[in-house]
Amino acid sequence: TNSLPVYSQEEVTKHCSIEKGIWVTYKGGVYDITDFVTIHPGGDKILLAAGKALEPFWALYAVHEQEHVLEILSEYKVGVL
Ligand code: HEM
Repeated sequence: TNSLPVYSQEEVTKHCSIEKGIWVTYKGGVYDITDFVTIHPGGDKILLAAGKALEPFWALYAVHEQEHVLEILSEYKVGVL
């Protein structure tokens, strides 16, 4: 079975820089996207979500409403909230 660690929002919030790592949340999942930020097709905008939830940003940028985007995100899952 797939039992990932549980993280608090406080722990996620701390991960908001390249040095500490960049984490985001999405639908209850926690993602370490440190290695993705430099290859993000939308450039540095992704850093606005560092340590936070993706939902409000993806609501604004509907380009993320695609299966292949969720597949990319899933590769970076490190835990759950
Ligand atoms: C485009 C992934 C977070 C802004 C894209 C594309 C991917 C992607 C795969 C290209 C989609 C396509 O053209 O088919 C991700 C992932 C994210 C993330 C995995 C989080 C882990 C964000 C955030 C923002 C953002 C937080 C804004 C604050 C954009 C913009 C584009 C884009 C503006 C369009 C770039 C263009 O076509 O000129 N993203 N994104 N992304 N993303 Fe993100």
